[in-house]
Amino acid sequence: MNNFDFKNPTKIIFGKDTIKNLENEIPKDAKVLLLYGGGSIKKNGIYEQVKSALAKVDVVEFGGIPANPEYAVLLEALAIIKKENITYLLAVGGGSVIDGTKFLASAALYEGETPWDILSQHIRTEKGMPFGTVLTLPATGSEMNSGAVITRAETKEKLAMGGPGLFPEFSILDPQVIASIPKRQLANGLADAFTHVLEQYMTYPVEALLQDRFAESILQTLIEVAPKVLKDPTDYKASANFMWSCTMALNGLIQKGVPTDWAVHAMGHELTALFGIDHARTLAIITASHYTYNFETKKEKLAQYGERVWQITEGTLEEKAHAAIVKTEAFFKGLDIDTKLSDYTDDYEGTAEEIAKRFTNRGWVALGEHQSLSPDKVQEIVKMAY
Ligand code: NZQ
Ligand code: ZN
Repeated sequence: MNNFDFKNPTKIIFGKDTIKNLENEIPKDAKVLLLYGGGSIKKNGIYEQVKSALAKVDVVEFGGIPANPEYAVLLEALAIIKKENITYLLAVGGGSVIDGTKFLASAALYEGETPWDILSQHIRTEKGMPFGTVLTLPATGSEMNSGAVITRAETKEKLAMGGPGLFPEFSILDPQVIASIPKRQLANGLADAFTHVLEQYMTYPVEALLQDRFAESILQTLIEVAPKVLKDPTDYKASANFMWSCTMALNGLIQKGVPTDWAVHAMGHELTALFGIDHARTLAIITASHYTYNFETKKEKLAQYGERVWQITEGTLEEKAHAAIVKTEAFFKGLDIDTKLSDYTDDYEGTAEEIAKRFTNRGWVALGEHQSLSPDKVQEIVKMAY
């Protein structure tokens, strides 16, 4: 097992009818900016619950943060933070609203001229404006981690940021919010969380027995609850397990002491930036190609995953590892998620070259758990995913 530090300061308030607890979490003297997305919270009753919990606090609102939170829109919110002397941010939404809020928490205290530098120059946020979240869509784990991914339409970029100053102070997770989520977004959440676990697991063995079993148990739970949640998102038991699995998949715990990959996400973000494909779907496009291309370095963990998660007992290590890739792709397809780029766009020629070029320009020349994934390899993998 590798050495590690672990600190996660986010308070989780989990369960039925917990949104009202907001009242106890936000400082009474705060001036709050309530941030939300395209308006789903106004249709499903979450907005009313939040507003009544905030009745005694001074609140300004900013709605309209789009999926794949857009820099230009966030700059409008930043202007409000400055004009209204906001002291506390509250995100009510999925990963996009929470990530947008993290950007604002950082940008509000940033002293440089252009907040985009935080993303383009990888400026780590040591201190941000304090914020909390009410999660409305289980998927990203953003409610309990310190990362964010921001899109800039103008330049077709989608870049990550983060730092210890960007953990939410608290996150409220009421699984009842899942009842109103459309099937497409439920499938996205399942696929995203599943891939988060894979990125931190599908590398090479380091005798981290507990981390491996944490990861496998999250995968097994997602596989078990996926059909139930998709069939009936009002099934509280399934929804609660789905929600907590998504949080645990990316709150830092399972990656401690083990190598991590994250190349599927790096390639996937480019597909969102170039084509606007939903985040989770970009991961489903890349995963099988990535594992097939890197088969030799990943086959031990692929076989272990095949045995323990998919109960593949027959065959050699290589055969089990191959069967595990097939099972993974079938899992995505079972969620009604297409796994080839050409399923999403006819305009895919040249994509692999473009992504390889972008990685080269950014100096991303050594991705993956062995820091061996160079842009020419990325190009091959993306091509295999056409
Ligand atoms: O905008 P509204 O109207 O609220 O609708 C949203 C949006 O259209 C809707 N929705 C959310 N909760 C709902 C609901 N509809 C009905 N009922 C509810 N309870 O769902 C749509 C998608 O929301 P979004 O927040 O975009 O989805 P998700 O949570 O999947 O977030 C995706 C974003 O997170 C980033 C992705 O790159 C993408 O930009 N990620 C963030 C990560 C992190 N911070 O750790 C890690 C991930 O790997 C990922 O990159
Ligand atoms: Zn993801």
